[in-house]
This record gives sequence, structure tokens and C-alpha cells, in this order.
Amino acid sequence: MTKKLAIGMFQNGRARGTWKIPGREHEPNFTDLDYWIDLARKCEAAGADFLFLADSYGYPTLGGTVVPTAVERDVQFSTVDSQMLMSALAAATSTLGLVTTVSTMAEKPPIVARQYRTLDHLSKGRIGWNIVTGSAQAGSALLFGEPLMPHDDRYALADDHVQLSLKLWEGCWADDAFVRDAATAVWADPERVREVVHDGPFFSSRGVLVTPPSPQVTPTLFQAGASSAGRELAATYAEAVFLAAESKALAEQIGDIRRRSEAKGRGRDAVKCLIAGTFRVADTEEEAIAAHEAQIAEISLEFAATTYAYFTGIDLLSLDLDKPMPASAADTDNGRTNVERFLGPDAPTVREILEEFRANGVMGKPFLGTVEQAVDQALALIEETDADGFLVQPDPDGGHDLFFEKVMPELRRRGVIKDDLPGGTLREHLFGEGQARLPDTHPGAAFRQEARTFA
Ligand SMILES: Cc1cc2nc3c(=O)[nH]c(=O)nc-3n(C[C@H](O)[C@H](O)[C@H](O)COP(=O)(O)O)c2cc1C
Repeated sequence: MTKKLAIGMFQNGRARGTWKIPGREHEPNFTDLDYWIDLARKCEAAGADFLFLADSYGYPTLGGTVVPTAVERDVQFSTVDSQMLMSALAAATSTLGLVTTVSTMAEKPPIVARQYRTLDHLSKGRIGWNIVTGSAQAGSALLFGEPLMPHDDRYALADDHVQLSLKLWEGCWADDAFVRDAATAVWADPERVREVVHDGPFFSSRGVLVTPPSPQVTPTLFQAGASSAGRELAATYAEAVFLAAESKALAEQIGDIRRRSEAKGRGRDAVKCLIAGTFRVADTEEEAIAAHEAQIAEISLEFAATTYAYFTGIDLLSLDLDKPMPASAADTDNGRTNVERFLGPDAPTVREILEEFRANGVMGKPFLGTVEQAVDQALALIEETDADGFLVQPDPDGGHDLFFEKVMPELRRRGVIKDDLPGGTLREHLFGEGQARLPDTHPGAAFRQEARTFA
């Protein structure tokens, strides 16, 4: 393998398994800042490209109310605001990229633009925005007191949102606008700081992002959501995507994103395709398999069904378990990635979908066995799918310690990951030294004052 894989570490602002491990119930966890700082420092020491904290306002609902199992068992339920953690993590680290999610449904573009620009300053260029239309949309629509917008309309809104955000980041300040010259008493050049003009289908704006340009100007743009509309958004704007599925579906999704991005003039390799991978390693293959099976045995069908309801709004337990999901159930306005991956000529039965969610959750099969075996499986998947790296899922106890101690050194030994992160910014970690800014082929580049055609 000639390419160097990108390694992102996944965590979300949610409680993980520790609260139910006997003797560890009171360990510091997701509401404790020290837990997050410790995690970020470990990611940095291991040489990961970035730490990603997922986030959502949603939680599992069915028929307009919260699912009791979600509350009782903490299935995609309790969470803290991941974005609030970011400045503390920026202060605690110096090279690690820091990525978090804000849904385009939750915050308006000027808010997102200001928050991420601030974080880009505070982290000295290490911040990334994971653009999603949101998961568990039915729940968050209820929470916000809004009607559930149809799925593809949410993606049209996301497109408009990103357009305006890019105008604010790239278009307001020319590169030489922030003068800050005490001798002439000029703070910024009024000729070079311009109001954006935006009249989109969902957002309008005449205004200035008042926070001066940060090291990346635009944060590194990530996307997660692999429905057809999601892949289109990714191919248009994203610089990296998070994908989770079995190998055939992954290969199709990645091929599709590369084709679409090439058709948009961005090139086949403009979007780093990162597989959400789980490494379950032990001293022997038997031990690893036994530990994985013991973990599955603890997961009830209700738990699996509630997880599925979170991602799709569909109640699998109300369907005929021995048939594939009927088209009427599959027609959901919640997230569609985890519906579309179970449709088609080889569609599994509802029971098989439930078993898949019991065994692997949303993230696909783990790489299982000794360290060497798990790494062999992971690298084979990279070859089969043409992916660019991994978004590594936590261990069963919620941490990443085994990955850092065992898997990362093995990946390094095989020469498939970077020895040192290039450049000081997240974009350079992913694309190489000197690539701190969006490339000229990205649609955001057209909004720069030298290039722009609006206003
Ligand atoms: C690894 C990974 C991480 C994700 N992180 C988030 C997240 O932080 N917040 C969120 O709302 N959706 C996240 N998603 C995406 C949702 O699962 C969901 O697919 C998407 O938001 C809805 O879009 P869709 O209709 O295209 O599926 C993630 C997906 C993957 C594979």
C-alpha cells in the first residue's frame, strides 16, 4: 500500500459502557472535563490525525415520544454538547486535529461560521466541522417544536447553509484585510472587508463575519450521512467523509463519492473516505472472538431495535421479523443511510437487520483477532473499498487504550500511517504540508474576493 492512511478517533458526548461495569460505575466519564482532556492527550501522543466528537440533539423516538428503553438503558440518549468541549481540548493539545458535529438544522450559518472560526483561532488551525442534517431527526424536530422536514429538503437546506457559511468564511475578509497597524491606527481595511450577499432558498444574509481570518480560514469540512443526497453533499463540499457499512456497500459508496467529486471538477481524491472501524484485539484469536461474543450476548433485541429507531425512526419490532423491511416502512424522513443499506435484491430479513445491530451496531463488522489478524483484515478492507483511512471506534469499555497500545504501533510498523503529522493545521494533516487553505477546486474558493462574482 503506497498511501498513508488517515487515523481519526471516534467518541461522542455520550456516556459509554463504563457506568455498568462492576467496580467502575463512578469512574470519571462524559460529564467530567478531565476525561475528555485525558482522551485528547492520548490521541495526540499516539499520533492520530484527529479526535472526532459526534453530536446530535436527537434521541430515539417512536410515534412521537421517547422510547423507554433509550432512557432505561441509555441507548443514544444522554449527552453533553460536544462543541463546548472543543476549546478546552484545544488548550490541552497542540498538534491533534479536533472535529465536531453541528447539524445544519440546529444552528444558522452565521452562528456556525463564528463558532468554528473562533475554534480555528483557539486551536491554531486544527478544527473540523462535521456537516450533518442530523440523526434522530423526528426527536430533534419535536424538541425544537418544528415539523419534520422531508429528508431531501433537509439536504437542500444543508447545501444552502454551507454556501452561506463558505461565503462568510472565504468572502468577508481578503487575505490582506486584517492590517492591525498601530502606526497608522488602522485595524482593518474597509475596502477589503466586505459584506456577503446571499439570497438562497432557505437563508438570506447581508453582513460580515466579524471574526478575522483564522489559520485555515474555512475549517476542514467533514460529512457523515451516506444516503444518495448525503453523498451528493459530500462530493460537493466535504474534504473527508465518515462511512459505516459492510465492504460491498462501502466500496459502492466510496466509488460513487469519487465519481461525483470528479464530475464536479474537484478530482477523485478530493474527499478522504474514512471507514468507521472497530478493532477488537486480544492475545489470541479465540480470546478476541469470545470477548466479542460475550459483549453481543449482553445486547437485547430491544436494545438493538432502539438503536435502529434512533437512526431511522423505524420500529423493527413492529414488523414481520422473517421478511425484508416492507417498502412502506422504509419510506422514512429520518436518516436514510441505515434504511438504504438494507434494501435491494439481497435485502436481509428484519430479524437479520436486528441481529446485525446487536452484533455490530451501526458501525459494521469489527476487525477481530490478534493484533496482526485485525490489522490484516483492516488493510484488506482498505484495498477492497479504496478507502483512505479509519475513524476508529472505542473499545467496549468506552476507551481507545488497546488501539493506542497495540494497533497503532502495528500500523506504524507496517508503514501504512504517517510517522509525523504534516503541517500544523488539520487540513495539512490530511492533505499535506502547505495545504492549510481550501484548494482552488473547492466551491468555497469561488467566494474569495479575488474570485467572487457575487456583490
Ligand atoms: C461514523 C459516523 C459518524 C456520524 N456522526 C454523526 C453525528 O455526529 N451527528 C449526526 O447527527 N449524524 C452523524 N452521523 C450520520 C447519521 O448517522 C445519519 O446518517 C445522518 O445524519 C443522516 O443522513 P442520511 O439521511 O444521509 O443518513 C454519523 C455517521 C457515521 C457513519
